[in-house]
Amino acid sequence: MVQVLEFVDVDVVRGHKEILKKFSWEVDEGERWVVLGPNGAGKTTLLQLASTRMHPTRGTVSVFEEQLGKVDVFELRPLIGLSSAALLNHIRGDEKVLDVVLTAAYGMTGRWREEYEKLDERRAFQLLHEWGMSTMINRTFASLSEGERKRVQIARALMTDPELLLLDEPGAGLDLAGREDLVKRLTTLAQDGAAPTLVLVTHHLEEIPPGFTHALLIRDGEKVAAGPLAEVMTEENLSTTFDAKLRLMQTEGRFMAVAAQ
Ligand SMILES: Nc1ncnc2c1ncn2[C@@H]1O[C@H](COP(=O)(O)OP(=O)(O)OP(=O)(O)O)[C@@H](O)[C@H]1O
Ligand SMILES: [Mg+2]
Repeated sequence: MVQVLEFVDVDVVRGHKEILKKFSWEVDEGERWVVLGPNGAGKTTLLQLASTRMHPTRGTVSVFEEQLGKVDVFELRPLIGLSSAALLNHIRGDEKVLDVVLTAAYGMTGRWREEYEKLDERRAFQLLHEWGMSTMINRTFASLSEGERKRVQIARALMTDPELLLLDEPGAGLDLAGREDLVKRLTTLAQDGAAPTLVLVTHHLEEIPPGFTHALLIRDGEKVAAGPLAEVMTEENLSTTFDAKLRLMQTEGRFMAVAAQ
């Protein structure tokens, strides 16, 4: 089995800020991880490291058993799909939905040449279909709703058929029905044996899709707990992570938490 991610004693320091402190974490092939933690905990920074967009200040990060700093990151990047709000800035508003997904095959945004392989085009159609966007392929990206944009972004992240899919708050800004639709689609993905290893960052316990196997709880750049979902998701761990006394509930295979009275 391939080790997908290995962080060993990772520090990330920017100016006087220690964003991650002595952070160690391992993700194996086929696991579905949720990463939970309050604003500023370091979740997006973790995904920046995992997607080879950032190097640690100290310690080592290995992706597919290749250590960052000792490998050409451009060889690793096609293996990694990333969907995050930061990447939205790189998508032009006037770009057509089909092209937003299609251009990912070339690791770039913007349609820069006319001739695409038929195979790529078929894959982009298929992904947009799976993510409920087949009727909107000729719309411009700017004309889409927030939820539709999120689905196009995930289809885009899957375009290179990655081995690792990183999703940074895909549910942010969605209404209740939109969130439930997303959770349902992510549940289907989590249960698909052929799907990539998954890491989903969220603030909301309700967004954890059934079928996810592991959880990482992070607070102020430090790991609170990591491991199998059932072991990690306790009132004590969550209360420590979010610095509030919480009651944890489970229904329909989903989690939710409220403040303890
Ligand atoms: N270049 C930088 N210089 C200084 N501080 C930084 C820099 N980049 C990030 N930070 C800080 O590091 C901390 C962690 O940032 P990060 O974006 O990883 O948090 P997050 O857990 O994703 O938060 P959120 O839930 O709000 O998205 C934040 O306090 C942020 O302000
Ligand atoms: Mg973030």
